[in-house]
Amino acid sequence: MFNTMTVTKAAGALIGALLFLMLANWAAGSLYHVGSTHHGEGEEVAQAYTIPVEEAAGGEEAAEEQIDFAALLASADAAAGEKDFGKCKACHKLDGTDGVGPHLNGVVGREVASVAGFNYSPAMVEHKAEAPAWTPEALQEFLANPKADVPGTKMSFAGLKDPQDRADIIAYLQTQQ
Ligand code: HEC
Repeated sequence: MFNTMTVTKAAGALIGALLFLMLANWAAGSLYHVGSTHHGEGEEVAQAYTIPVEEAAGGEEAAEEQIDFAALLASADAAAGEKDFGKCKACHKLDGTDGVGPHLNGVVGREVASVAGFNYSPAMVEHKAEAPAWTPEALQEFLANPKADVPGTKMSFAGLKDPQDRADIIAYLQTQQ
């Protein structure tokens, strides 16, 4: 009698444990499945973003970006650029007066470091020899990474990583004469 009870209990416990394992396995399996589906989607999204970044960072960037940028600028959104210009407003005004930085109305096509009375850094003054005017192309290179384009510039701004943002801001600046 006692033995039978023990065996029954043991068998019960074993079946219970097996059932638990099966459930746990199933639960883990479905969780993993859900997780991996999301992971897959995440990768797709990530790729959609990394492709342009990789191109921008690519070796032939100079030649390729020029072509890309002209196209970007042609379809740029000046209204979006006006919003993005909020990032510049702390230092730059558009009314012909200077703040921390020189005024930027009329900057597209303007000679580099040419605002009379503004105290440019020696680096910016030297940059003029390399790139005399702020063409859209020169502007977009500078705005992508000011400190890389003009090492020693006193413009403390990290840069606009997204070429579309740069195109939008330049399109907006073109409207500010
Ligand atoms: C923290 C302040 C600050 C911010 C933010 C800033 N700038 Fe500047 N910017 C400066 C300073 C200072 C200079 C002068 C740099 C020098 O002389 O080296 C400058 C110079 C420039 C020049 C060259 C002007 C010339 O007359 O040669 C351009 C173009 C420019 N900034 C565009 C921008 C744009 C567009 C943004 C926003 C995306 C921006 N800056 C954000 C401070 C700033």
